[in-house]
Amino acid sequence: MDSENVAEDFWLFGYGSLIWKPPPYYDKRLPGYITGYVRRFWQASEDHRGTPAFPGRVVTLVEQSYWESLGDTQGSTGSEQVWGAAYHIVPSKVEEVKDYLDIREINGYSVQYTTFYAAHPVSKQIRCLVYIGMPDNPQFLGALHPQDVAERINQSVGPSGENREYLLQLEESLKDLSTESGDVHISDLARRVRSMEPREGRPYGSQDLNPHKISSTEEQEEIEKGS
Ligand code: BEZ
Repeated sequence: MDSENVAEDFWLFGYGSLIWKPPPYYDKRLPGYITGYVRRFWQASEDHRGTPAFPGRVVTLVEQSYWESLGDTQGSTGSEQVWGAAYHIVPSKVEEVKDYLDIREINGYSVQYTTFYAAHPVSKQIRCLVYIGMPDNPQFLGALHPQDVAERINQSVGPSGENREYLLQLEESLKDLSTESGDVHISDLARRVRSMEPREGRPYGSQDLNPHKISSTEEQEEIEKGS
């Protein structure tokens, strides 16, 4: 596809917060799925649902072949559909929306293009842009244990709000897309988080007591020591 066509017919696939928080200037939204990826809460969020001192956890897509090398036993076979929503952006606003998304979402994500399969009409296939947390980006954390992810999500908060709310909102939004759009990884994490006491009502930023950058394991130990 040449650059002129891309500009005239720009579709963006959302598999995270874009499902319930659409981009500006879209004129069509289609529920559907992509294949060849596995959705996981393996991306650190320092700028939306956490802070540099206490990063939250948000979703990314892991390419299936790479995911198979990671020994993740959680739920998925990796061969299924990743459900979300595709947005068609008004042609005159494509550059503005790309700039907006770069500001809103780009922390650690790279751009890829993939085929989107619309739920209705079933035969419709669209080339979509999608943001992926590539394994070599510093925010990509690799295979994490679901209980560690759930505990972190339950504790984190950032400029966009509580990490817990992001997870539960994602679970709800997925249910609205289709009867087939559930995701075992997401519903398992949501079940774990719902069984925990929500974090105390400390305002955003109050966890930033220790400004030096530390590893996830150290971060976890610090929470445990402090609780
Ligand atoms: C999303 O689908 O909401 C999304 C995921 C990663 C980066 C940007 C957007």
